[in-house]
Amino acid sequence: MHQYIQDFSKYEGQSVTVKGWIANKRESKTNIFIVFRDGTGFAQCVVNVDEVGEEQFAAAKSLTQESSAILTGTVVKDARQIGGFEVQVSNLEIVHLTENYPITPKEHGIKFLEDRRHLWLRSTRQWAIMRVRNQIIMGIHHFFQENGFVQMDAPLFTGSACEGTTNLFETDFFGEPAYLSQSGQLYGEAMAMAMGKIYTFGPTFRAEQSKTPRHLSEFWMIEPEMAYYTNEMNMDLIENFVRSVVNSVLEKAKHELEVLGRDVSKLANVNEAFPRVTYEDSIQILRGELEVNGRNAITLQEEDLQAAKDGIVAAETQIAENEKIIKGGVKKGKRNHLQSQIDSLKNDIKTYEEQVRNIPQWIESAKNFADGEDFGGSDETVLTRVFDAPVMVYNWPTKIKAFYMKEVEGDPLHVKGVDLLAPEGYGEIVGGSERETSIDILLKKIDEHELDPKDFSWYLDLRSYGSVPHSGFGLGLERLVRWICDLDHVRETIPFPRRYGRLFP
Ligand code: 4AD
Ligand code: MG
Repeated sequence: MHQYIQDFSKYEGQSVTVKGWIANKRESKTNIFIVFRDGTGFAQCVVNVDEVGEEQFAAAKSLTQESSAILTGTVVKDARQIGGFEVQVSNLEIVHLTENYPITPKEHGIKFLEDRRHLWLRSTRQWAIMRVRNQIIMGIHHFFQENGFVQMDAPLFTGSACEGTTNLFETDFFGEPAYLSQSGQLYGEAMAMAMGKIYTFGPTFRAEQSKTPRHLSEFWMIEPEMAYYTNEMNMDLIENFVRSVVNSVLEKAKHELEVLGRDVSKLANVNEAFPRVTYEDSIQILRGELEVNGRNAITLQEEDLQAAKDGIVAAETQIAENEKIIKGGVKKGKRNHLQSQIDSLKNDIKTYEEQVRNIPQWIESAKNFADGEDFGGSDETVLTRVFDAPVMVYNWPTKIKAFYMKEVEGDPLHVKGVDLLAPEGYGEIVGGSERETSIDILLKKIDEHELDPKDFSWYLDLRSYGSVPHSGFGLGLERLVRWICDLDHVRETIPFPRRYGRLFP
């Protein structure tokens, strides 16, 4: 029997045996301080020469980063430690001594880390992200299961394109072309007619050759589909769902969010009502023609630009000051502190400089946004900046949305689609709609989208036999992980990302 770090609170004052790896180590004459990880958490383990004797002390000394070991010792409360506990080691057994572990505590380039994703997963940050991802998945299942949905799986080999033909991965299905699924929706609609309310949870594939921070080639999508749901009911569900999942993470992954340095007060804004704006209103907001609670999208960007410029000046001043103090001669500890402050200020400057480069282009794009176009990433950033909570944009131009979306009554130029845009620049995380029920309109759209009606014969059956109004949406899991964890890029949101230019490891 051995114990896990996540359960240490049950063992205060008692002896435990933990099996894991050395994340980090520092030494004094009589003590070796090991940051030990066992997958469930991190804990400082102190090896004292008088406790363990010369031989084991020497063994502890020989431990390198990512060596594996089994430690036995007493759990002591220590509020200064990450997990809140420390172990005073009484026995130590080396399982495997690692030599030259490639990922060291120093800064590595992102390509270096991505090439070593199989090892990078062990680092504290990645550990925290994966734990949040797990909590999100649990929160998603919990929400749907508590609300009467049945989880069902859509096929991944498909003969039809759900989201347009431009980004399909083609495979050979016993001599016939088959595509890796872009979305389980069409099958979800069939399942909803059988079961009422269902959700799929599976991988989806998009062959977009885009190297943006939000695009993966393989990502996980959660797609609920509900019979007898209008798009208004769909939007209520999206709001309740996202609020519930974010709150479950705030409650159950506090420690992980802290490790990631996430500003949780911003996430708590999900408890406000999600604003709902039509596409036509949203483009007026984007262009700065319509204000929201006294906030103007363009003015806010101009203020952000000025703040970034001021930030550069302030950081440069501070760096110069630190350098002057270092030059004047200070103790090693103080020098290290000042130097690491300089490094972090230099990083801040990089971020500010990027903003100074980007924001003027964003403003241009937003001011000149043409009616009927789809939002680019920066447009979503500018638009959502005026809101605190995630915002729903609905009633989209027909020509930029998928064939299956239901036309707004009396307004065939718009469809009952809805996108949920996350705040803080994260943009679209959910896309959904009420589904078209008219066979005639569907056939017309299938033709306009240059799809083959033969592939959709089974889908059209759903409109021939007990057709009912119905709606659904798709949530991109990695987009949600990215927003909740506040990450620069989706590459860190999934254990082994598949994206344009990245298949290894
Ligand atoms: O907006 P999308 O394309 O909608 C659909 O596929 C619908 N069939 C869903 C439905 O109504 N059942 O994709 C849904 C979500 C997006 O909002 C985004 O979060 C995510 O899937 N997504 C991606 N995530 C990562 N990488 C990509 N390349 C993505 N494309 C879409
Ligand atoms: Mg979309």
